[in-house]
Amino acid sequence: MPNLPHKTFCLYTYGCQMNEHDSERIAGILESHGAVQVDTIEEAEIAVFVTCCIREAADVRLMGQVASIKNIPLPEGSTLAKRMVCIGGCIGQRDGDALPGKLAHVDVVFGTQNIERLPYLLEAAMAEGGHHVEVLEKSTTFSTDLPSKREHPWAAWLPITVGCNNFCTYCIVPYVRGRERSRALEDIAADARALVADGVKEITLLGQNVNSYGRDLYGEPRFADVLRAVSESGVERLRFATSHPKDLTREVIDLYGTLDNLMPSLHLPVQSGSNRILKAMNRRYTVERYLELIEAMREVNPDVSLSTDIIVGFPGETEEDFQATYDLVKRVGYSQVFTFIYSPREGTPAASMVDDTPREVIQRRFDSLVDLVQENAFEQNQRFVGRELSVLVEGASKRDDHVLTGHSPHNVTVHAPLPEGVDIDDLVGRIVPVRIDHARAWYLSGGVLDA
Ligand code: SAH
Ligand code: SF4
Ligand code: F3S
Repeated sequence: MPNLPHKTFCLYTYGCQMNEHDSERIAGILESHGAVQVDTIEEAEIAVFVTCCIREAADVRLMGQVASIKNIPLPEGSTLAKRMVCIGGCIGQRDGDALPGKLAHVDVVFGTQNIERLPYLLEAAMAEGGHHVEVLEKSTTFSTDLPSKREHPWAAWLPITVGCNNFCTYCIVPYVRGRERSRALEDIAADARALVADGVKEITLLGQNVNSYGRDLYGEPRFADVLRAVSESGVERLRFATSHPKDLTREVIDLYGTLDNLMPSLHLPVQSGSNRILKAMNRRYTVERYLELIEAMREVNPDVSLSTDIIVGFPGETEEDFQATYDLVKRVGYSQVFTFIYSPREGTPAASMVDDTPREVIQRRFDSLVDLVQENAFEQNQRFVGRELSVLVEGASKRDDHVLTGHSPHNVTVHAPLPEGVDIDDLVGRIVPVRIDHARAWYLSGGVLDA
């Protein structure tokens, strides 16, 4: 058993919720070996980067961050000769042995499939010096079997699948996260019950495509079964990410009308409003099919907030294709849209497609979409004015200690002045009623009714 008594570590987490969840596991694993988590690099003898390579900007940022900590001295009293720098996550998985060549002061490289090996690699690096790289093709365990240190006591990620089989032509994820594997339904249900018993108010089920859950399991349980089972745990708020339109079933949509704790928000990435581009992306649905799903959803519950992801500037995107995307966004009326400029990722099919749209044209399209998204969000949020919403309090607002911040069931940020004589620590992790007075594009504000 490696021993890291009182060694201090800090974590840098980039990318998606999978990484956020992995970081909670990494913190749990390191602490189970005696290490202690700290908030700043100055206090840390070990720096762990949990990385993302979904777009080029993520790569560039990581390189800059790792380089920038190089000359920061070790905390006083450390017995180490140098700060241990560890790189895990999707860049670790992708680059493996090539990483120390790019970043000479890196000590440990691990991947997405072997986070439990980090203490062993660290111990070896501390004892022997040199670079310790270990990346596995495929893990035999689920990270959910490992110790965890939740970032917030009231919220938990619960992975139901790992990996992805979809191979959208622009996307690196299937190459760095491996093939899709589902966890047993009983294990997921047992985890949900344990989390609720531990005081968790909100569970977010995780998977790159939660809708394809169960295809690799005996009896082929479906995602709707997972939703029902986790809902039965009695958790107050149930969410999930991410949902692929090609596999979203009517059965799941109908659950928005029957499961009280399934929150009224759905993230359904569309990527493009042009059938030609969707085909080139290998998304395997049409705009018409996507709109049918949205319509069905709104019939079941018109109050569900919708969000999506859009890529602008996919190779060969014409003005007409972009206009179709713009029209789709306008037509659906999303509460939130995550907009991305296409970034070629080496090894993916799209990286070798002809890509000759000028950068300025793509930027102009992107900017006009961002403006539309903001208008849509503003309009969508107006429906909450005058309503009483339950808000899960996360803490004081970053800008003002006297204002609490949290999320509504629709996943919209809500701010409200802290009631007279109430300590924020007494409200954090609780669900309080807030009457909404104002709605902006990115948040709502109002007053706490009864804390
Ligand atoms: N599994 C999720 C998405 C994971 S990545 C899903 O299928 O919805 C999150 C988002 O990043 C994607 O939805 C896509 O919009 C964007 N993205 C992925 N690869 C990209 C690339 N090469 N360039 C730009 N955006 C990309
Ligand atoms: Fe990437 Fe597509 Fe898989 Fe999402 S579904 S992770 S976009 S390959
Ligand atoms: Fe990034 Fe890896 Fe997630 S590439 S988006 S951290 S799966």
